[in-house]
Amino acid sequence: MGAFIEAIDLRKTYRVGKIDVAALRGVSFSVEKGEFVTVVGPSGSGKSTLFYLLGGLTRADSGKVVMDGDDFATLSDAERTKMRKRKIGFVFQKFNLLPTLDARSNITIAQEISGNGGRDPEFFLRICELLGLTKRLNHRPSELSGGEQQRVALARALINKPAVVLADEPTGNLDTENSNIVLKMLRQSNQELGQTVLMITHNPEAAKYGDRIIHMRDGQVVKPEEDPQWAVH
Ligand SMILES: Nc1ncnc2c1ncn2[C@@H]1O[C@H](COP(=O)(O)OP(=O)(O)O)[C@@H](O)[C@H]1O
Ligand SMILES: [Mg+2]
Repeated sequence: MGAFIEAIDLRKTYRVGKIDVAALRGVSFSVEKGEFVTVVGPSGSGKSTLFYLLGGLTRADSGKVVMDGDDFATLSDAERTKMRKRKIGFVFQKFNLLPTLDARSNITIAQEISGNGGRDPEFFLRICELLGLTKRLNHRPSELSGGEQQRVALARALINKPAVVLADEPTGNLDTENSNIVLKMLRQSNQELGQTVLMITHNPEAAKYGDRIIHMRDGQVVKPEEDPQWAVH
């Protein structure tokens, strides 16, 4: 059996006016099933672009992403969307909750659209308990702190027990206490459910929550000693 996630020579250039910005310049790596990998690198090194490609949210110019044996490029848009909803839980730096729904609905809506069938009320309660959300479920995002909003977003990402969790700077807007809750939950979910986690972070402390660190610089994967930001810490 091969790797669970494989990135093969991924390249992506953005065109801004007449200027080409090479965000990814040939990125390759693989992640085993159940691994918790963190991705670090300076701002602008291509981490978020990689996140979008791994999640099937955008297409690469060349190269490919293979997840659980499926090559994203060979899937139709509809198949890719289906696979995304079934297999991947996303966490973003900016929470991305639906403002008109309360916390409970922001979480359960993920169950409704996943196509995974059936709710699991016990798991819902357990996740809410672990994330300290039980008393906040009737509140809308505007009535929640940033930390609470991110905990709701994490519950939404985990509620379908996705095989893969992709997180882009999930603690970027959080204080230490909330960061720790989010990181511990990601770790626990990874260990209990054998989930494959790929988390992008700026924070060296957060990066240590994973099993292994991938360093990026200027759109490429580099050795740790070639990552100036890392060398400082
Ligand atoms: N939508 C976009 N349009 C144009 N340039 C972009 C876009 N998204 C990212 N970039 C550029 O691509 C490079 C990599 O960005 P990004 O993937 O966001 O890196 P990171 O997440 O590591 O900060 C940067 O130079 C950034 O300015
Ligand atoms: Mg980014």
